Amino acid sequence: MPDIREMHADDFDAVRRLDRDVFVTWGREHRGATGTRPPRTRANIRQNHADDPAGCFVAVADDAVVGYIFAHTCGHVGWFGTFGIHPNWQHQGIGGALIERSVAYMEGAGCTTVGLATMPDSTYNVGVYMRHGFRPDGLALRLWRTLPAPPAAPPADTVPAPVWRTLLARQRRAALDDCAALADGLWPGLDYRKVIQYVPGETLLWDDEGHIWGFAAVRTTPKLENSATNTAVVEALIIDAGHADQWPAAIRALEAFAWQRGLRELALTLPDRAHVPLDAALAAGYRFVHINLVMTRRRPAIQWDAGVHSFGWVM
Ligand SMILES: CC(C)(COP(=O)(O)OP(=O)(O)OC[C@H]1O[C@@H](n2cnc3c(N)ncnc32)[C@H](O)[C@@H]1OP(=O)(O)O)[C@@H](O)C(=O)NCCC(=O)NCCS
Repeated sequence: MPDIREMHADDFDAVRRLDRDVFVTWGREHRGATGTRPPRTRANIRQNHADDPAGCFVAVADDAVVGYIFAHTCGHVGWFGTFGIHPNWQHQGIGGALIERSVAYMEGAGCTTVGLATMPDSTYNVGVYMRHGFRPDGLALRLWRTLPAPPAAPPADTVPAPVWRTLLARQRRAALDDCAALADGLWPGLDYRKVIQYVPGETLLWDDEGHIWGFAAVRTTPKLENSATNTAVVEALIIDAGHADQWPAAIRALEAFAWQRGLRELALTLPDRAHVPLDAALAAGYRFVHINLVMTRRRPAIQWDAGVHSFGWVM
């Protein structure tokens, strides 16, 4: 059995290569995919690790990294991933051991819910996670659209969205507190302050006379090396229930932001139960491009139509 230890910066390159090989092999074996893909950028791995370094582990055999797992705590809610075991070492209990280490860290850090997102058609993955106490908990639906050129004058109802990084320090703190309250109202204990501050992109804020009723953290940089991204990816997005009628305008504001940043596509992930935003996205021309199965261990009830979030923000 390989040794399991905390991941260090020295492991990042080995983890990047292993992550690529694990998923390229999986794609070949399960999806008939051919070819390869670049590894994640160093910045992406560093950021995956920076959230919760003490919850990230590697499995090492004969001095080689053969497994890895990353943890992300968002207040009392934790997610793990990206996560993989070298194909030659799968089905020997190593993945399960890494899950237990990472989850023990997150529960020790105060998470009352821990979750992950996985391929819904992988009976193996669902079996692994069920064995470790996780239960299927809905689908995360990835929507995507190529953006047409914006109209010369924005529609009258487009909500102006100030961005977090342009605020003064005092306003930033107040905005973070408002966003924390918003997330807590949706899912008690969920806290996206870290995501808002560190997303490699920007966070849009929607407010009413100084009271924030919605925010969207948008990644504008690619995850994979040498891949010039053209896509703005919404990593976390919440709009309070009282502003459900603002979803179409919020989507237009996100598109205008993407266009301003020179990006020509927008991707967002919504839970299958978030009917109001799903309908708004479909009406705006978005198409489903990817489905993940969410699995969680322990969770309080969530008001799905009050907002959404994308699981495991840097995954
Ligand atoms: C998914 C992955 C991380 C799991 O790690 P692993 O080390 O292979 O998993 P483990 O050996 O700890 O767990 C295997 C156990 O899962 C359970 N299991 C597997 N398939 C099952 C099924 N169809 N039904 C019920 N239980 C099942 C069994 O308990 C099995 O052990 P057993 O057959 O000896 O009883 C690894 O296989 C991997 O890297 N896969 C490719 C990348 C990937 O999918 N990453 C995760 C994305 S969310």
